[in-house]
Amino acid sequence: MTIDEYLKSRRAMVEAALERELPPANTPPAVIHEAMRYAVLGGGKRIRPILAIAAAEACGAKIEPLLKAFSSLELIHTYSLVHDDLPALDNDDLRRGRKTTHVVFGEAMGILTGDALLTEAFSWLAAPVEGVDASRQLRAIAEVARAVDSTGMIGGQVADLEATIGGARTPRPHGADDVSALLFIHRNKTGKLLTASVLLGGILAGADDDELATLRRYGEATGLAFQIVDDLLDIEESAATLGKTAGKDVEQGKLTYPALMGAEAARAEAGRLLGEAVANADMIKGPLNYLAAIARFICDRRS
Ligand code: IPE
Ligand code: IPE
Ligand code: MG
Ligand code: MG
Ligand code: MG
Repeated sequence: MTIDEYLKSRRAMVEAALERELPPANTPPAVIHEAMRYAVLGGGKRIRPILAIAAAEACGAKIEPLLKAFSSLELIHTYSLVHDDLPALDNDDLRRGRKTTHVVFGEAMGILTGDALLTEAFSWLAAPVEGVDASRQLRAIAEVARAVDSTGMIGGQVADLEATIGGARTPRPHGADDVSALLFIHRNKTGKLLTASVLLGGILAGADDDELATLRRYGEATGLAFQIVDDLLDIEESAATLGKTAGKDVEQGKLTYPALMGAEAARAEAGRLLGEAVANADMIKGPLNYLAAIARFICDRRS
């Protein structure tokens, strides 16, 4: 199976689980369930659940019973996007090629949709999983929760907002302090959920501590590379290709890799991280291991 075929087939499994498990749109109060389905079922690469699937498969697990838990990652990610796009944060009106949730349903409903998706995610994660004992499941839930709490994704979003200067930056000589501020933002706002996605797959698959340590290193390298490439695409691609506003980071004065060190150095850093990701991916010796190919896809993607 080529990587494109693999991604397509795993994405279809995730889409089916999301469609099946989300509350029907007519569940009262209908407006919130319509908004949740609008936000979640409107496209997207589904890379976080696919990373969980790939990690579980690399560790030799059967994934069907795990799909609901893995798809919860997409609820958390979508909630973060719905809130990231709000007027008080990045103030975006385009997401996945469509109007953002708050533009369609109003700002109050945008906030509540995010709240509802985050809560729904933990309900899916806590649902009994065939073949997984409760202590492993608890460990997995704690891993995901820590990745997105105020010392994880929310902490990263806070630091992102605090570093936003409201005007264009130009690449400039920089020191260790600048790089460490940028690393903090990217590792937390994006890297930790991607890492937790890989670990969720490994933990529910029954991976041992050595395998989990390898998966963590793979996840951290892949997660940071993911956000560096997101920064690059923001300046290199059009809104039509991205399905979201382009050139936004420069306009808003975001602290990004290209803004600090220039696009060429940012691309080189993503390449270095890819090497690290692949080296760790290759240490997992399961029968079906697409982890290295997914890291390559993340670095080569155009949207
Ligand atoms: C965008 O994430 C936000 C970041 C964390 C960089 P994705 O690029 O995974 O967005 P979708 O889910 O494919 O739309
Ligand atoms: C978003 O980062 C990170 C989270 C949503 C946690 P960005 O603000 O760069 O994402 P996009 O570019 O709007 O997708
Ligand atoms: Mg943002
Ligand atoms: Mg944004
Ligand atoms: Mg971005």
